[in-house]
Amino acid sequence: MANLFAKKTMNVLMAEADEHGSQTLERSLGPFSLTALGIGAVIGAGIFVLSGLGAKTAGPALMLAFVLSGFGCAFAGLCYAEFAAMIPLAGSAYTYAYATLGELFAWIIGWDLTLEYAMGASTVSSGWSNTFVEFLAIFHLKFPLWLAYDHWTGLKKAFESVGRKTVMAEHPDYASGTKAFSDALAALLAHPSAQLTASAHALLNAPKIGGIELGFNLPAFLIALLITTVLVIGIKESARFNAGIVVLKLAVVLFVLGLGSHYVNKANWGSDWHTFAPFGVGGIGLAAGLVFFSYIGFDAVSTTAQEAKNPQRDMPIGIIASLAICTLLYIGVAAVLTGMVYWPEINIEAPIVRAFLDRNLNSAANVITIGSLAGLTSVMLVMLLGQSRVLYSMAKDGLLPKGFFADIHPRFRTPWKGTILAGFIAAIVGSVTPIDDIGKMVNIGTLFAFVIVCIAVMVLRHKDPDRHRPFRTPLAWPIPVVPVLGILFNGYMMVELGAANWIRLVVWLLIGLVVYFSYSRKHSKVQAALLKQGLEPSA
Ligand code: ALA
Repeated sequence: MANLFAKKTMNVLMAEADEHGSQTLERSLGPFSLTALGIGAVIGAGIFVLSGLGAKTAGPALMLAFVLSGFGCAFAGLCYAEFAAMIPLAGSAYTYAYATLGELFAWIIGWDLTLEYAMGASTVSSGWSNTFVEFLAIFHLKFPLWLAYDHWTGLKKAFESVGRKTVMAEHPDYASGTKAFSDALAALLAHPSAQLTASAHALLNAPKIGGIELGFNLPAFLIALLITTVLVIGIKESARFNAGIVVLKLAVVLFVLGLGSHYVNKANWGSDWHTFAPFGVGGIGLAAGLVFFSYIGFDAVSTTAQEAKNPQRDMPIGIIASLAICTLLYIGVAAVLTGMVYWPEINIEAPIVRAFLDRNLNSAANVITIGSLAGLTSVMLVMLLGQSRVLYSMAKDGLLPKGFFADIHPRFRTPWKGTILAGFIAAIVGSVTPIDDIGKMVNIGTLFAFVIVCIAVMVLRHKDPDRHRPFRTPLAWPIPVVPVLGILFNGYMMVELGAANWIRLVVWLLIGLVVYFSYSRKHSKVQAALLKQGLEPSA
């Protein structure tokens, strides 16, 4: 019986961090690249899309929702920074759990991180595709419906489109976009007639194989493969590609703030607490959970710790600076959005672009579309980068096939096989599955990792108090204020995500345990070392 809670010692981890040679990752990233990677991973679908739903949930107090969500991330981020500086290896939360809570927890977190990284990339690829279709529309180019969405989403869009036309034809008085119109549309879609169904399928116009219609999100698939190629070619090249995109998207966010602030009507923010926060503290909490997605990614900086030139100093800089910059920008965007448009009228699908279009600022809206396209590209890049690094670390420990996931390309110095596999899986998931539910799994999976890292900081402070820590989480010991607040904030957001998402998380982790017990436990290097020492491992 293997010892399920066997730990990797800090000395072994330190030795691994010092390894050199062609089979190791290349240490080439400085503080600027690391911060850019953080910003690259963070600013994306969350701010450009989810802020609309957040505004409907919290009203103008969306600004506070971003503050609240940012706090949860800051507590976790400070804990990540302590570990990433102290253990500069690629595994992030997986490695920290291995050193503190033992192999089984490490496996669970490593497996869980695929939800954040690979599934995060898939979710964003679908948003990328929507934005790309809008981008083409600027040039009056149309993409066939069946090639722009997975089958289910494509059909849903087709139903909505033909349903909309039917309602408008039957009730011209509804066409003004009032609630009555959406009620009529919802009623029609709930019980579609044979005629409507036939029209929707005709609009989808998908080819059939064996009688089954094929819908395939081609842009999502292609962008995932393109990014995978960049990642295989090299970490320096990937960081440069990311930095270029980050400059562009920061410029666009500043543009939104600068231009948008001229159109702010302060009355839209409300005159007192009740009009500022129409759904009270509860609404702010709910919105914080929703917009949490917009912060996901700063932790991915820690997966590049093995590729940082001076991780002791630069890891905390990369994590904390990217988080701080994005938090400030998000609060600003929330203020501009809720100031430009009275919150009940904010659009849910493209809130920011729509806010500018409604003011007839068409060119500005096009600039924002291009900025969000860039934003989503770098989010995917860093997510897939993080995924391949976690798989690499797990394989180095024997928990996944080493010859595949830990094989470093002799010229590119990247874990190329794992990168290609992760990219391909993300591409397939993004192109053939409806993405909404996967997006929620990304949230719960990430929050779970944050909670574990906050716990792990306390465990190591207790067990190994004298170890040199280049960065120390403030207020973490002996009274662990920051880690406990991190657990409470992020745990609260997990609870808010509801039972269905917990069930999804548990099912995913159970699948992971099957892999662990059938493969990983038997191939674990730590278990083998224990056996070699003649120790009788106990469960
Ligand atoms: N934070 C990333 C985004 O908003 C995942 O797209």
